[in-house]
Amino acid sequence: MSKEIIKIFDTTLRDGEQSPGASMNTEEKIQIAIQLEKLGVDIIEAGFAAASPGDFDAIEKIAQRVTKSTVCSLARATDGDVKAAGEAIAKAEMKRIHTFIATSKIHMEHKLKMSPDEVIKRAIRAVSYAKEFVDDVEFSCEDAGRSDIGFLKEISDAVIEAGASTINLPDTVGFRLPSEIGEMVKVMSEYTKDRAIISVHNHNDLGLGVANSLEAVVNGARQVECTINGLGERAGNAALEEIVMALKVRGDVFGDYETNINTKEIYPASRLIANITSIEPQPNKAIVGKNAFAHESGIHQDGMLKNRETYEIMSPESIGLVKDDTLVLGKHSGRAAFKDKLAKLGFTLEDDALNASFERFKILADKKKDIYDDDLRALVTNEMTKSEQVYELVSLQLMDFSEGTPSSVVKIRKDGETIVEAGIGEGTIDAIFKTIDRISGFDGKLQSYKVKAVTEGKDALASVTVKVSFSDDEPAIIGHGLHIDTMLASARAYIGALNSYLSMKGKLKKRFSDSSKTV
Ligand code: KIV
Ligand code: ZN
Repeated sequence: MSKEIIKIFDTTLRDGEQSPGASMNTEEKIQIAIQLEKLGVDIIEAGFAAASPGDFDAIEKIAQRVTKSTVCSLARATDGDVKAAGEAIAKAEMKRIHTFIATSKIHMEHKLKMSPDEVIKRAIRAVSYAKEFVDDVEFSCEDAGRSDIGFLKEISDAVIEAGASTINLPDTVGFRLPSEIGEMVKVMSEYTKDRAIISVHNHNDLGLGVANSLEAVVNGARQVECTINGLGERAGNAALEEIVMALKVRGDVFGDYETNINTKEIYPASRLIANITSIEPQPNKAIVGKNAFAHESGIHQDGMLKNRETYEIMSPESIGLVKDDTLVLGKHSGRAAFKDKLAKLGFTLEDDALNASFERFKILADKKKDIYDDDLRALVTNEMTKSEQVYELVSLQLMDFSEGTPSSVVKIRKDGETIVEAGIGEGTIDAIFKTIDRISGFDGKLQSYKVKAVTEGKDALASVTVKVSFSDDEPAIIGHGLHIDTMLASARAYIGALNSYLSMKGKLKKRFSDSSKTV
């Protein structure tokens, strides 16, 4: 008997980006979309087109790059949102508009201040209008988990009639238990039958997002919405990697279902997103945490040596984690070996990006004896997601670390010209950032600064992430910098944020006052 396909709808770029501190620039979003396509997700929710010109721009670019997955934009149930969504995805090979309105009593009364009848009218209008742009329309009953089942049936009838082919039932606040989600999905899938696909979208406030999604599948859901690393609003969304691997590893229970996911792309996807957002999955996170395949106790190690299955229910290779190959290239490694290694790590680079990454690798290999997989992942991700280099750091000189006033001399290239400035600050980082401000003429406000060692050793690469606000009425921008020297990594991160800001200038402002946070 052929298995039923469970569609994987990835919302890392939309709900995931709503995680505090997870905002991404356009280049970063494009690289993530390319990886999601490689992973085999059926639908990529690329963003929320009406939120800001920057969001629109990123969705539009993703729509032109991705061909094997459906590209989707979220839209509230308003003409303006639906139009923006339709225009942003217009060039996609396969496209979907995902429109939503809240259906729970508490949301309708207190947030929308609308009667159930008005909500149904708005939903019908949004779906009918979306059909003018695309064939494939998904409708979400926001806060379905706390909505009246009779009302869910009524609004579903109405939007299916208007042309929606997927009905999504989000547990927006992560309140429901698996048995309750299972019951809701069973009732709704038996009710809608083959008129629509029932989808779920579970938030993780009680840590039940994945369990709820699996229970939904068993009860008739044929689409699951999720994010890589479980990123998302508040406690996040159900984690894609956990749902997919549970379905696969527990084939004895879920044998009737399969997904289109190439599980070997899970680990590369997880690392890419962790590197871009600087949000590391917790070490003991299922599937992709640093310790997920580490065996510490002697008894476990002994068992593993005798038979891996004593303590491993899936292999690291099955998620694309090549474990026995962590120590990699050195300064004598050539371009071919470098390219080959990157391919093993899941990166396929075009010539220009490959050359630029190889140059950076060579510089690093001169300073650092052992270059590990994680060093390469960080370096290549950093190279591939750079915005246009308006300002480029040439050199940095620091003085007076211990006593007196820290000062810095920064040399920067802009439009072929070299600019040198000196500045002082309360601390070294302050001095560097203030000097860069003097050169650029901006007065950046540093909102957060994070530094981590990418791998081990005193010569480890420092990865610095800064969040800087360059203007009072636009959101803060993230910048990343990598270098063996933490101060140089910091300068690069700050300049990275500045370049990103300049590439997005004028496109950052949210179009509505309640920000892009929709739920
Ligand atoms: O959690 C939620 O309800 C959502 C909808 C917009 C689908 O993210
Ligand atoms: Zn959500």
